Amino acid sequence: MFSRLHLLPNSILLSFLLQNIAHVLADLSPYFSDKKFDNGEYGSYPMQTFHSSDIVAPRINILSSSSRCDDGSYILITPRGHRVPDEARGPMILDHRGDLVWAVTGYEQTYDLMVQEYAGQQYLTFWGGNDAIGGHGAGHYYMIDSTYKQTSKVGAASGMAADLHEFRFTDEGTALITVYDVHQVDLTSVGKSKDGYVWDSVVQEINIYNGELLFQWRASDHYNVVDSFHDVGDEGAQDTPWDFFHINSIEKDPWGNYLVSSRYMHTITYINGTSGSIIWRLGGKRNDFKDLSNGRATDFTFQHDARWHHNYTVISLFDNGAQYPSHDENAPYSRGMKIAIDDEKMTARLVTEYINPEKLLSSSQGSTQVLPNGNVLVGYGYNGAFTEYAANGDTLCDAHFGSAKSFHTGEVQSYRAMKFNWTGRPNTRPSMAILDGSAYVSWNGATEVHQWVVDNCDYEDGEEESWRPVINAKKNGFETMIPLSKALGPYIRIAALDKAGRTISTTETVPFDGVRIFQSDVAPLLC
Ligand SMILES: *[C@@H]1O[C@H](CO)[C@@H](O)[C@H](O)[C@H]1NC(C)=O
Ligand SMILES: *[C@@H]1O[C@H](CO)[C@@H](O)[C@H](O)[C@H]1NC(C)=O
Ligand SMILES: *[C@@H]1O[C@H](CO)[C@@H](O)[C@H](O)[C@H]1NC(C)=O
Repeated sequence: MFSRLHLLPNSILLSFLLQNIAHVLADLSPYFSDKKFDNGEYGSYPMQTFHSSDIVAPRINILSSSSRCDDGSYILITPRGHRVPDEARGPMILDHRGDLVWAVTGYEQTYDLMVQEYAGQQYLTFWGGNDAIGGHGAGHYYMIDSTYKQTSKVGAASGMAADLHEFRFTDEGTALITVYDVHQVDLTSVGKSKDGYVWDSVVQEINIYNGELLFQWRASDHYNVVDSFHDVGDEGAQDTPWDFFHINSIEKDPWGNYLVSSRYMHTITYINGTSGSIIWRLGGKRNDFKDLSNGRATDFTFQHDARWHHNYTVISLFDNGAQYPSHDENAPYSRGMKIAIDDEKMTARLVTEYINPEKLLSSSQGSTQVLPNGNVLVGYGYNGAFTEYAANGDTLCDAHFGSAKSFHTGEVQSYRAMKFNWTGRPNTRPSMAILDGSAYVSWNGATEVHQWVVDNCDYEDGEEESWRPVINAKKNGFETMIPLSKALGPYIRIAALDKAGRTISTTETVPFDGVRIFQSDVAPLLC
């Protein structure tokens, strides 16, 4: 039993009651235009670890920043690549400063982390599975609610494999997904067998709730394989199907029609949602549009992420401009694009290009997200970088999570990089470690913690034992370090308070001897 004499009189504790501690340490700060980072001197994927959590966070290099990128939303990425260790790989949320907010591992390879709404609730959605099938995947789509509980794991319909490129909710409560399906096609037109095989690109619209198939479209029914820019090479047999189309994004509009991006056709296709027939094609060998911008509105290649804007008159996309990291025919750089479409006059006009100050060229993946405030976030896919631009194309914020030296190697990638608002209220408790007289506290995924308060289990003569708040520390980064007083004990805990000063949750109560947690068989005081 603890003698009450070991406890300090209240007056001493009260003297540091709710004082702000000057020496609260947060995470290691990001790097700022650090040349060693980009030379790979900290490794291809610089990381940091924490005391209170096993999670491994990236430590990013910020090349430029602006308050105009801070609208209270978060950056969502899915780092992977052969220099991103298993314990650091997975869906991840960062705040606008680059500090970790949430990460989870254990889903194999992950792609396409977003916030989407279903039945009035916000969910984190992503794909996880095996991506080693030659540029596409076989896995599942996951939904995680605001408490970080996984609420669903969805596959593709008709027994097909759910591909990694798209899992996008529609306003009707359905989901658009991509499927790669081995399919027999006559390939004599490209010098192969009449019984040739392709990785066919399939659009599925499914009921999210029960997986029921609502619409399906198959590229080989509507596209001639000779229009592909992907050389058939040695492919085209049953065990080496030819990826002639390579679907990578789908959107549905209010008229029920679909907008589909095909990397290997260099084409955005507008598909009739009733008949499946092609309404028009933008870009590629069968381009239907007159280019009003000297060819620059329709000359995108290997592009990703085609989205409608401005009442269905503007399309944004990520123009990779490259298929392989170094190739004679590569464009000089990748670009985010906005293209104005007039589908009565059948004209296309380049509105704005978003070009990285270092002219990054990404041979695969990538995203272009037009944000609600008009800024445009470009994720560089194969290269560990994302950049936020003003609507006019000026660079506002630019960051690397892989060293520049690792670019073009696939060592550090994220399929897309996107920004969303998100409120995370984990159903776990905050976690605390105590080391050398300091507490380290974090709470994976909690977005509403404003300050941490160390509570001491204390009593006054003649009173019941009670929790008294003794140290107040502003939350700063993923993990906050709070120096503890030797006078504290014998039990402490740390409370998470929101902006209004309300306690959201507390850590476990631990026995504390002024320096460390001690082993104790004694039941905690009745705090
Ligand atoms: C789509 O197909 C349906 C049925 O064939 C047709 O009635 C409709 O006009 C088509 N829509 C467009 C935009 O072509
Ligand atoms: C969007 O465009 C259609 C014409 O295609 C027009 O009828 C409608 O009023 C427009 N909506 C808005 C919000 O501008
Ligand atoms: C986040 O929410 C704020 C406040 O509503 C809004 O201004 C901003 O555009 C949102 N950002 C994103 C990326 O949705």
